[in-house]
Amino acid sequence: MGDARREMKLGMFFAPGGHHLAAWRHPDAYPAGFSLDSYVKAARTAERGCFDLLFVADVFSLTPSANRADSFRFEPITLLSALAMATSRIGLVGTATTSFNEPYNVARKFASLDHISGGRAGWNIVTSSSPIEALNFGYDAHIEHAERYARASEFVEVVRKLWDSCEDGALVIDKPAGAFFDKNRVHQIDHKGTYYKVRGPLSLPRCPQGNPVLVQAGSSEAGMILAAGVAEVIFTIQRTLEGAKDFYAGIKAKAVAAGRDPGHALVMPGVLPYVGRTRQEAQDKHDLLLSLIHPEAGLSALSKLMEVDLMSSDIEKPFASLDIAGLTQTRALGVVETARKEGLSIREVYERLVVSKGHRQIVGTASDIADIMQEWFEASACDGFNLMPPMMPNGLDDFVELVIPELQRRGIFRQSYRGNTLRDHLGLPRPAGRRQS
Ligand SMILES: Cc1cc2nc3c(=O)[nH]c(=O)nc-3n(C[C@H](O)[C@H](O)[C@H](O)COP(=O)(O)O)c2cc1C
Repeated sequence: MGDARREMKLGMFFAPGGHHLAAWRHPDAYPAGFSLDSYVKAARTAERGCFDLLFVADVFSLTPSANRADSFRFEPITLLSALAMATSRIGLVGTATTSFNEPYNVARKFASLDHISGGRAGWNIVTSSSPIEALNFGYDAHIEHAERYARASEFVEVVRKLWDSCEDGALVIDKPAGAFFDKNRVHQIDHKGTYYKVRGPLSLPRCPQGNPVLVQAGSSEAGMILAAGVAEVIFTIQRTLEGAKDFYAGIKAKAVAAGRDPGHALVMPGVLPYVGRTRQEAQDKHDLLLSLIHPEAGLSALSKLMEVDLMSSDIEKPFASLDIAGLTQTRALGVVETARKEGLSIREVYERLVVSKGHRQIVGTASDIADIMQEWFEASACDGFNLMPPMMPNGLDDFVELVIPELQRRGIFRQSYRGNTLRDHLGLPRPAGRRQS
């Protein structure tokens, strides 16, 4: 049996139809259409499986390809507030971009969610990965990469100051004295930086968690520095054990260099498990989804990753014949390297490497899947995983029914929740607050 401190963390990354590019075309996907219902059911299933958190991503634009399901989405805070009422323990993590928001608004929304949910909120800090978003906010092109991270860093600083602007215990509700709150325990922040000027204080009492949990998924050097400097949960794309170990060691070293406890920067790579009662059943599930990929969807996903229009390409041609120069994204570079080394066709590249958005896929029985998860967890390659069910709802149902009990039997995952807040689940301390008197 593993001891309590060595239990893996599990996130449930929600995508309505599933994370596989073609999942939405599966006959069992979208049983409730585009509705809150499917989110509520999934949140409750994940809570039954004792997941640490439910995560919803966000993009402020519509993906142009009509063959894809990752286009329409609910606004995360509205959605998570609804899910807070349908669940009682699971953490609720939503994305908000620092590129097209104001710190005051973001601080207020996540603080509200933390109060509404009784201490279960988390903020996934992004600088916006889709360049189209900029076009919806008065820009002609995305803000340059280094500048968006400089803004993000100051943005997070302001949000944290706002969260700490009201001390614990400031809300006194002293009816005889006529004092609703204690003025001496509520502070202006008077922030004047390069990008933001914010007086504060925030118009909410301090959160149940002190601060909502900070989550980040940067993979560039600037992204990793932000993640290691502030994030308490770090999502990442890792396909190989060696790569995951390097990333893990890199994040932990950067966290230490930033003066943090590396145990409070939890690394959680994404994983797409195809779970079967037999290996053949798992393989059949995997193969069925592959057969459902519309070539346009494959090419659109590949174009997005490579940041060039590949829509008119012949998918049976070698990937190496494509004219792709000037790539900077690490994820795209990794795909190019594998494709060239293995001599893959364009179709094989999107089938093998792009359908899962670059994340690790595992095809097998519950025991096969638990073996790999345990190996990564025990080899200092991760602190847990962000589950990305290839299809919904079955991918999550199978995982909770078959894989969770296997992880529990091995003593590497909790049998039941021990606390009420997301910080309790993740073993993270409640920040003291910088303005406590
Ligand atoms: C699991 C996961 C979830 C992500 N969610 C979002 C998201 O909701 N919105 C977004 O704009 N970017 C999202 N990203 C992208 C990252 O924030 C980041 O931009 C990307 O990993 C590239 O790293 P870089 O920004 O350091 O170049 C996500 C990445 C991962 C791995």
